[in-house]
Amino acid sequence: MPTIYQTLKTDHDKHRDLLAKLAKTQGDSEDRRKLWQTFYYDVSAHAAAEELSFYSKLIAESEGQPEGRHSVAEHHELEEMIQGLHEMKFSSPGWLARFKALQERYEHHIEEEEKEIFEKARQVIGADSKGAIGAEFTSLKKTERGKVDEKAEQALED
Ligand SMILES: [Fe+2]
Ligand SMILES: [Fe+2]
Repeated sequence: MPTIYQTLKTDHDKHRDLLAKLAKTQGDSEDRRKLWQTFYYDVSAHAAAEELSFYSKLIAESEGQPEGRHSVAEHHELEEMIQGLHEMKFSSPGWLARFKALQERYEHHIEEEEKEIFEKARQVIGADSKGAIGAEFTSLKKTERGKVDEKAEQALED
């Protein structure tokens, strides 16, 4: 079973690839629509499952709290950027500029997770050598994938 670190890295690499492809799209095209749908649902489910399976364990330990809180705060910030873009027309002239700002922030976030947070987590919650946390993440991500639309609506009502 892949460890939580391998599982998250695989997702991040998929997100990097989608972002690079999205950055090359133009206007209200089939490519932009399809790639954005994939990115939107996958990233939203990833972040929710990451908080439930991974950051919850980091935050439960005193030494992991600063890193855990920092990342969860970044999730909130990214969520707003993603939701803002999701509600924008694909044909809008400002779409690409806003997308690129999101791309930069998101790439910074996952790089920090891989380079700094994972190192701290290995000390605090361990190597996950049997992949138990990885499996927990994968299962939660499936459930969260089904809740993305519902949660977005709730966030708008708040
Ligand atoms: Fe994250
Ligand atoms: Fe992540």
